[in-house]
Amino acid sequence: MIEDSLSAAAITNGLATRFIGQEVTCYPSLPSTNDVAKHKAQEGAKEGTVILTEEQTAGRGRIGRSWLSPRGSVALSIILYPPLAYLPSLIMVASLAVAYGIEQTTNLKAQLKWPNDVLVNSKKVCGILVESDVRGDKVDYAVIGIGLNVNLKLSEFPQIAPMATSLSQELGREVSRREMVRNLLAQAEKLYLALAAGDSVFKQWRNRLVTLGKKVQVSSGGATYRGTAESVAADGSLLLRQPDDGLLKIVAGDVTLRR
Ligand code: BTN
Repeated sequence: MIEDSLSAAAITNGLATRFIGQEVTCYPSLPSTNDVAKHKAQEGAKEGTVILTEEQTAGRGRIGRSWLSPRGSVALSIILYPPLAYLPSLIMVASLAVAYGIEQTTNLKAQLKWPNDVLVNSKKVCGILVESDVRGDKVDYAVIGIGLNVNLKLSEFPQIAPMATSLSQELGREVSRREMVRNLLAQAEKLYLALAAGDSVFKQWRNRLVTLGKKVQVSSGGATYRGTAESVAADGSLLLRQPDDGLLKIVAGDVTLRR
């Protein structure tokens, strides 16, 4: 059995960050870490505070979907108070932090699928939900929610098994969630601080997207579009080259790769 404690001390002790993960609260079970994080942010929690739980009973995904977070997975939320201009980049920071954290912890190669999925061997291993409260031109708070399948046996979850995987499933052994979380938090801080230095985070994100150059189908706002995923814009939108040669900018949606 590997050492896999998710206590606050196990995460924070010796963590080489300035603020992300310096305050951690761990719960045995929560409906949703994002909901608790939002509440704590409204109460003025310190920047970088992390809410972590062993399991979620009402985990939320994008577009009103639910998110499965049983024991063995990682569900956490990071509280930030970014300038407005950083908001579109938070999804890039989060998905790159997860991808780099996975590679550092396991040596598995991680890929990104627009807009915010992390894949291993072409299957989804992590979902990210960024939520924020903006008043005028000021961000009251932003919460980065990360759900990562670390030690899950997908055969026990047939409802997600066809498209999902876990780190343990891909490696054939369990992974230390503690190491995974610590690496992910350190990567997140490095990337977040790099936002001030310009477009390097965007370029790293764009270069990792497996979606680009592929023929795709995109569902967005009730409509379905087909074409080639040509590029992404700095605000994170997908640029889809359509069969009539028009270029469509898609802000939010779901992508399926076409064969
Ligand atoms: C998705 O792919 O639809 C996004 C899933 C995001 C799940 C995480 S788990 C931690 C945080 N708390 C939630 O309720 N959701 C996010």
